Amino acid sequence: MSIIESLNWRYAAKKLNGEKVSDENVSKIIEAARLAPTSSGLQPFEMVVITNQELKEKIHKLSFNQSQVLDCSHLIVFAAWDHYSLDRINHYFDHYETERKLEKGFSDGYKNGVSKHLTALTTEQQFEHAARQVYIAFAFAMAEAAALRVDSSPMEGFLPNELDELLNFKAQGLRSVLLLPVGYRDETNDWQVHLKKVRKHTNHMVHYIK
Ligand SMILES: Cc1cc2nc3c(=O)[nH]c(=O)nc-3n(C[C@H](O)[C@H](O)[C@H](O)COP(=O)(O)O)c2cc1C
Repeated sequence: MSIIESLNWRYAAKKLNGEKVSDENVSKIIEAARLAPTSSGLQPFEMVVITNQELKEKIHKLSFNQSQVLDCSHLIVFAAWDHYSLDRINHYFDHYETERKLEKGFSDGYKNGVSKHLTALTTEQQFEHAARQVYIAFAFAMAEAAALRVDSSPMEGFLPNELDELLNFKAQGLRSVLLLPVGYRDETNDWQVHLKKVRKHTNHMVHYIK
């Protein structure tokens, strides 16, 4: 099935019906995010998959009571590294060399360049850089969900500092960036279900230089 067809099918569901998404489909949605490209391949983020209702209730309160957080099947929290440490960068390149069966130190030149560039940024800029990678992976996860005909709802509307505290992210060197509740649309109670998708016209967005 075409990805365009799936993207036309999807919408940011505002109310889900509580039906469970299979573990197999949740794994595929997460796998799409794992396979997303990231700057230098560092994958500076983690995902936390929450099904615990008590915890969902607490996050609901930190998300301006947005219903999707409560009625989703799984709530996926996307969290970025709060900074790029040499440890984190070394860990990635060690893994890279092992996976590709390269001689240890093979990527040192490139690694040193990446380290120098990233660690010269302020801590906030480092987090923002990592967060940008999260958005790419997040989009892949939403696209895979749509391809599976699982609904999802992209969400930036929550209190990140409070959520970081609740999930003990600081101790893990993480900061929350986005929420992705997944489930199935509530056809009766979601006012958005039957509304036309609104997008700018292509000729207002794309310019060809020949
Ligand atoms: C990064 C991001 C954050 C968003 N945050 C919220 C949110 O917190 N609550 C919400 O109801 N919708 C949220 N949306 C949904 C957008 O409003 C929606 O995607 C947009 O209006 C286009 O509509 P569609 O996704 O239904 O096609 C968010 C979308 C994105 C991409």
